[in-house]
Amino acid sequence: METRFFGCGAARVTLYCRYHFPAVPTTKMRMPRPRQRPHVTVNMAMSLDGRISTYKREQITLGTKHDRHLMDVLRASHDAVIVGAGTVRYDGFPVLVRDEEVRRKRVARGLSPHPVNVIMSRTLDLPTNRPIFNRKDTERVIFTTRVAPDARVRRFRRIAEVVLLPRKTLSPTAVLRDLAARGMKKVLMEGGGELHFAFARERAVDEVYVTLTPRLLGGHDAPTILDGKGFLKKDHLRLELVSCQRKQDELFLHYRVKY
Ligand SMILES: NC(=O)c1ccc[n+]([C@@H]2O[C@H](COP(=O)([O-])OP(=O)(O)OC[C@H]3O[C@@H](n4cnc5c(N)ncnc54)[C@H](OP(=O)(O)O)[C@@H]3O)[C@@H](O)[C@H]2O)c1
Repeated sequence: METRFFGCGAARVTLYCRYHFPAVPTTKMRMPRPRQRPHVTVNMAMSLDGRISTYKREQITLGTKHDRHLMDVLRASHDAVIVGAGTVRYDGFPVLVRDEEVRRKRVARGLSPHPVNVIMSRTLDLPTNRPIFNRKDTERVIFTTRVAPDARVRRFRRIAEVVLLPRKTLSPTAVLRDLAARGMKKVLMEGGGELHFAFARERAVDEVYVTLTPRLLGGHDAPTILDGKGFLKKDHLRLELVSCQRKQDELFLHYRVKY
């Protein structure tokens, strides 16, 4: 265990960060099963009281330039970024690696400048005028179901690849299986809470990055990093802290889900 100290204004706060190094395998250890799906990481900025937006779901930038840098670094190291229909309806920004230097390093690794923008919408009830649909330099894949009317499917096929899955519900497992078949190994999730819960319920979240920002938003209708129905005590997820870092008034927390 490593202990790290961070100054915190006038007061000095001690944060204990545990770094878990992979143990040396022994013959008695069971090796992990090969993955059937890409590695899934969630990245979110939230207020001190756990909200990711206001109760009116306003578009609000919670983090500072440090958070935006982390966002770029994470985006650059993933094959795709998944967002839910709600995030497209309320925010709708394309998922880009905005920092030129970070983008240049990604391209130097033989990758496209930006990760594939993946949208999940059962109904395809999405406004086509959102900026996420206007960029020419990002690849877009929309996963939908047969609940989506044909006319909408046709309309979205003009601006994105549309994958029509056969069921009425949109299963994260089915989406991840499709992305794995495209050779994707690492996907990032950037909202919102409803979609994150669907992945967490299917045990399809491996890591969580949370930037704790110095704001209070309140509101029982304000979204959080995990909404949906919620877990019960018997099946909730447990995590271990990988690292924590302080930059001015923000805390950058990185957790790994324990399965
Ligand atoms: N602070 C941050 O870092 C951050 C980042 C991103 C977003 N946000 C905020 O998050 C809010 C949006 O979150 P949200 O929870 O309302 O929406 P969301 O999770 O982005 O999207 C939920 C929608 O995704 C679709 N969906 C497709 N498959 C699904 C499945 N298996 N399970 C659940 N939903 C599925 C459904 O829409 P269909 O009816 O189309 O199927 C559902 O209504 C916004 O206020 C946004 O500003 C904050």
